Amino acid sequence: MKQGWGFDTAAVHAAQKPDDKTGAISQSIVPAVAYAFPDAETAAAVVAGCQEGTYYGRYGNPTTRTLEQKIAQLENGEDSIGLSSGMAAISSALLAFLQHGDHVLVTRDVYGGTYNFITLLAPRFGITFDFVDCTDAEQVRAAIKENTKAIYVETPSNPRLTVLDLTMLSSIAKERRLPLIVDNTFMSPYLQQPLELGADVVVHSATKYLNGHGDVLAGFVVGKKEVIDFIRKRIAGDLGQNLNAWESFLILRGLKTIGIRMRTHCDNAMKVAAYLQGHPGVAQVYYPGLPAHPQHELARKQMRGMGGIVSFEIKGGMEAGKAFINRLKLAMISFSLGDPETLVQHPASMTHFSIPEQERQQFGITDGLIRLSVGLEDAADIIADLEQALLPGPDGAIRNDAEQVKSGH
Ligand SMILES: Cc1ncc(COP(=O)(O)O)c(C=O)c1O
Repeated sequence: MKQGWGFDTAAVHAAQKPDDKTGAISQSIVPAVAYAFPDAETAAAVVAGCQEGTYYGRYGNPTTRTLEQKIAQLENGEDSIGLSSGMAAISSALLAFLQHGDHVLVTRDVYGGTYNFITLLAPRFGITFDFVDCTDAEQVRAAIKENTKAIYVETPSNPRLTVLDLTMLSSIAKERRLPLIVDNTFMSPYLQQPLELGADVVVHSATKYLNGHGDVLAGFVVGKKEVIDFIRKRIAGDLGQNLNAWESFLILRGLKTIGIRMRTHCDNAMKVAAYLQGHPGVAQVYYPGLPAHPQHELARKQMRGMGGIVSFEIKGGMEAGKAFINRLKLAMISFSLGDPETLVQHPASMTHFSIPEQERQQFGITDGLIRLSVGLEDAADIIADLEQALLPGPDGAIRNDAEQVKSGH
């Protein structure tokens, strides 16, 4: 970390200082779209990228720039760009390396929006893809084609929490001179720094832990300056995917507490995972912090903490899964994650419903799978809520008819 700071200090201070004119410690919000220049030469130098500065809101903003510099420092990257959503960051990062005729190698279980972009939109522009089990180096090597131009992974993955070995993948990527792009949304730079492990580009949905309060939609790409400059000018700028000043301010505010938040998310998630693991109505728990997780040792090496997401398979399938989340009282049914509130969702009927059933099952997104984004409430209250909703029937499966259970029949 720059200046030898620890992460928590950098989260508060990196790229920020009191305002020169007013002394204001909290970040000023600059809503301006247009900027005045002292002369034509300066305007030309800024638009050409020869001089740092802001010239038009679609290509950057001073409040957003402070945040971009802070996130670049937290991820130990050269530069970063703030965009209007995580999907804007993911699509821009992929388009920075792919064009017509190219192929991308993608890890097997990815966020549903990423899956849609890769399988539905990218092929319309002549880009092909393969989903590969990226836990297996041999399968990755074998899937690289002559026209492969990028490797894209998510670790831990959404929603199965599969942990990928980023050192192994980055060495394969380097052997084949391919960029390795990593979605670090589930971890945040507090828990994992993919660039330090050899990745080339990091993408984030800042909608989740970076902002951490469920009131901003934003994304970031972090990497080499030339990649970020290209995205700013040729992709985000031309597609109009800029992040605005107000949302950047909110993320700057949220980021100051990221270390404290992540530690509590991790502590609570570990307690929840341990509780679920012992429940008779739960067939399987996916949490990298559990010694039974297939990549537990790798996770301990690669990650500073195990994160706030716990996925688990309840006995009883689709109907039991839906009935279970309907019975929760504290946890809210929601598509998002990384907020102070505990959020729950049923991937088969919610986030991953657009993936054809057979393919969904192949990715391990089974009908009884539940994803819990463990919040910042007291762990005991989260567990008590799960306890009252996990009602095993006589066959051990979770009951699927809430009304029947309520009326005692
Ligand atoms: C791992 C991951 N990456 C990317 C995204 C997309 O982010 P956004 O909704 O900000 O576009 C999500 C959204 O849930 C996600 O879970």
